[in-house]
Amino acid sequence: MHAPLSTSVNQEDGHRLKIVIVGHVDHGKSTLIGRLLFDTHSLPDGKIEQIQKACAAEGMDFEYAFLLDALLEEQEQNITIDTTQIQFRTPERGYVIVDAPGHKEFLKNMITGAASADAAIVLLDAHEGLQEQTRRHGYLLSLLGVKQVLVAVNKMDLVEFSQSLFNDLERDYRAFLEPYEIKPLHFIPMSAKLGHNIVKPSENMSWFKGPTLLAALDHLQLPPAPVDRPLRFIVQDIYRFDERRLIAGRIESGQLKTGDELVFWPDRKRSKIKSIEPWPSKPGQTHALAGQSIALTLEEQIFIERGHIGSHVEHGPVEGREFSARVFWLHDDPIRVGQSYTLKLATQQVEARLVRIDRLMDSATLTPLNERRSEIGRNEVAELVWRTRHPIAFDNSDVVQETGRFIVVQDGRIGGGGVIFGASYEPASTGVCSENISWTDDPVSRESRIDHFGHRGAVLWLTGLSGSGKSTLATALEARLFQKGYAPMLLDGDNLRHGLCADLGFSNEDRAENMRRAAETAKLLAEAGLVVITALISPFANERQKAAAICRKAGIPFAEVYVNTPLEICEERDPKSLYKKARAGEIKGFTGIDSPYEAPTKPTLELRTDKLTKEQSLEQLLDLALRIAHRDGVPEEELAGFSI
Ligand code: ADX
Repeated sequence: MHAPLSTSVNQEDGHRLKIVIVGHVDHGKSTLIGRLLFDTHSLPDGKIEQIQKACAAEGMDFEYAFLLDALLEEQEQNITIDTTQIQFRTPERGYVIVDAPGHKEFLKNMITGAASADAAIVLLDAHEGLQEQTRRHGYLLSLLGVKQVLVAVNKMDLVEFSQSLFNDLERDYRAFLEPYEIKPLHFIPMSAKLGHNIVKPSENMSWFKGPTLLAALDHLQLPPAPVDRPLRFIVQDIYRFDERRLIAGRIESGQLKTGDELVFWPDRKRSKIKSIEPWPSKPGQTHALAGQSIALTLEEQIFIERGHIGSHVEHGPVEGREFSARVFWLHDDPIRVGQSYTLKLATQQVEARLVRIDRLMDSATLTPLNERRSEIGRNEVAELVWRTRHPIAFDNSDVVQETGRFIVVQDGRIGGGGVIFGASYEPASTGVCSENISWTDDPVSRESRIDHFGHRGAVLWLTGLSGSGKSTLATALEARLFQKGYAPMLLDGDNLRHGLCADLGFSNEDRAENMRRAAETAKLLAEAGLVVITALISPFANERQKAAAICRKAGIPFAEVYVNTPLEICEERDPKSLYKKARAGEIKGFTGIDSPYEAPTKPTLELRTDKLTKEQSLEQLLDLALRIAHRDGVPEEELAGFSI
């Protein structure tokens, strides 16, 4: 363990669970909160009596909702208390109720990552059932990305504590949430007003075997505190100080100590920490934690600049050029697909193009906007896909918040903010095969190559039996593309086997290696900017998938084209008389005869060459090639569905 260090991170905060209560005001939100405060003894002494008295004086029945109103009123008068944060505690731990939706400001804070919630309670009204509002809240939850969800079915007293009604509600709401991939941990029937199943189990609902709301809350998981998350050291500046090069920055998450090996992203340069320097940290310091600003010296003289993110060798960030993010847009000018913006993420600043809008919601009305749109306006929330001009380092916001959020700058002003989700971490992302191999950056950017050729590099991977027509179509396509001013390149299986793959035969292992080499070559050529057409039997689905992954990982669009001709017809054609030889036993392990061909199940394009003329097949192939290599990029899912 290290010596305690002063840190700006509120340690207490790390042990409190932040919950958001999502529900319509009339569904009993205030009552529920009042009840939680009262039943957990989280109210100031005498508060309840004071309100009871006030109610009696006014001739009103006491309501728990009044408690909350009274507390909020008091907090409002005291400007040091954040009115959006109501707290209570159980023997287990502390809770903070962060403000609930309906409040645009809250939504903005959640979406831009300024505020976060660890869990959500969705409040339903048993009496009213599922309403439009409830549905909107479900959608909202999915946009907020809160993973732990409890559903509190309130006002059970108004429906005679009916089990069947509760079961119906649970079934219907689960079905509604399913497409959003939200799986509530519990549905809890309750009455906030009467205090049933909040802290104490309800005698009127003995049929319910689940936990009370508070027990369910106490079972939720706390996210790891910032110090326990992966190390992210955000480089702010490099200073020369006598002979030393000081790397100044802030530890946003995790911790480090002298001697640790760091990787600096996105270039992945590595070095060990030589020292943690006295200025501005303490003399003799050998450890530093999340929340601290420090200066380091390194063992090796590696190139580092502002914008780099240091991590340990394990648990590095994601490095890439494309990611999905939930964005809240604030600017009067809409943000548009196809346009470029400046993104600022930690100290990185990068030009990025908005590639696509996936989902959209109006934050004021919480209405999902289902129409297909190419822009989002003020106060709209959307899931967007971005493509940056050069690789950057980032995290999913639920892994490390600081490196998982960014702001969008438009005309020098902040246009909106977003949080990244859904990016996949590869365990081997720093794992080059030898310590002594590094990556040499290509000074010619992909964008300049696209400008040069007028299209982007891409791979069309033709697969099919021998004699299905792969080579015929591939050569014809290459010629057509070239005529059109494109830069195509054909990689034909037979040809590769004359050189690059001359050492390979037709065993399963050799075929797999044959495909791997073809895929790596296709990737390189596509990185050079060419439209690559491969024509290999490529009989194994798994290896084709790997080929696709090799290309896609490098940001190269990849389309699988199934040249589908029935075996009998291939055998009839038998252009090289190989089927005849295979039948005669002169060739062993011939694809389709005594070696398997695993047909693609979801190719980007399927061509039944026995039903189409060569020209018809070629037209479809050309159409696909032009789309996939289009300079603006076409989302891969839009490429699918060509199959006939
Ligand atoms: S793959 O299976 O490894 O993808 P590839 O496309 O490179 O095959 O090579 C196939 C070509 O090799 C065929 O068109 C045919 O001319 C020749 N060939 C020779 N022996 C075989 C065999 N046993 N199976 C399939 N093709 C063979």
